[in-house]
Amino acid sequence: MKELKPNVYSAGAIDWDRRLFDELIPLPDGTSYNAYLIKGSEKTVLLDTVDPTKTEVLVDHLVRLGVDKLDYIVSHHAEQDHSGSIPDVLLLYPDAKVVTNPKCKGMLVDHLEIAEDRFITVADGEQLSLGDKTLQFVYTPWVHWPETMSTYLAEDKILFTCDFFGSHLSSSSLFVSDEGQVYEAAKRYYAEIMMPFRKPIANNLAKIADLDIDIIATSHGPIYDRPEFIIDAYKDWAGDNVKNEVVVAYVSMHDSTRRMVEHFVEALSARGIVVRQFNLTNVDIGRLAIALVDAATVVIGSPTVLMGAHPAAAYAAILTNALRPKARFASVIGSYGWGGKMPEQLAGMLSNLKVELLDPVVAKGLPKDKDYIALEDLADKILAKHKEAGIIE
Ligand code: FEO
Repeated sequence: MKELKPNVYSAGAIDWDRRLFDELIPLPDGTSYNAYLIKGSEKTVLLDTVDPTKTEVLVDHLVRLGVDKLDYIVSHHAEQDHSGSIPDVLLLYPDAKVVTNPKCKGMLVDHLEIAEDRFITVADGEQLSLGDKTLQFVYTPWVHWPETMSTYLAEDKILFTCDFFGSHLSSSSLFVSDEGQVYEAAKRYYAEIMMPFRKPIANNLAKIADLDIDIIATSHGPIYDRPEFIIDAYKDWAGDNVKNEVVVAYVSMHDSTRRMVEHFVEALSARGIVVRQFNLTNVDIGRLAIALVDAATVVIGSPTVLMGAHPAAAYAAILTNALRPKARFASVIGSYGWGGKMPEQLAGMLSNLKVELLDPVVAKGLPKDKDYIALEDLADKILAKHKEAGIIE
């Protein structure tokens, strides 16, 4: 609980111990659910709430901030890590109204069964006066769901963005204190949460470009008092440029695929290509996602199991397909014992990617000389493709 600017307070909760989000995303550094209290000369508003597991922390902060009367709860995003405590806060403050856009209202009714008469809906660009402070609502869809919006507090030049620009990073510092650490956490967050929505993100970056912003206050992680740091990072990540990098994500059962991967990675490396290699049996999928942000090429390595891909390789392909990285090229390498359709199956799982599929390299049993030659050829092909695409000179 800290003051960002006069009468603007951080009132949310830090979740140091959480290690998984959506039963999917690893949180090596925990997270936070940032909520903000603004005391205007006439009205008091709470921007977002916290995950329901931390409602007591939020309520304690509101009590300690002396909030006897709450006029509004602005809901930027219906996902429960920000909205889940709204019903309890509404019980505590029976006159408070939930201020949000119509789409978010619908979701809050669906997910939290909040009564229709507790809402005020606002249009894109609409303003709400708190007396000496004014909120302006900016629709910023698809960061992270279709209903997401931001709020600009003009008098204090603060943009409250909820998930947009966030990071899963628990920290006792209100503001970013270590940009290197936050860059890594924010990139992980972007990769896992935002990357499927690159185009809407570019639109939202353009939409906020004319706002005079001193502070970007997110709903996860430390907040930014140097906004250009995270805005420039987002422009890079969400932009169309890819790097001379190959992600090789593989699993091996009886060593054939591992031998191929090791040879292939060396071949790429010898050609000056940066390789990010991941063994899928023990991968942190957040690190895999980070690598996918910039890579020009993705290669999945798999043995053949019951005529198809190893389930760990299929999982990586499905995840990559869902995250929609901006890679330009993809391929499959691996092995089989007696037959199957492993390469076709994996390639079919990457249908969301706008990639050129390069011919797979598949060995029968342990790789032989001809298989190693085919891997060298694939490395040559990737180098040539990166050159043709202007990724390297
Ligand atoms: Fe932090 Fe999409 O919720």
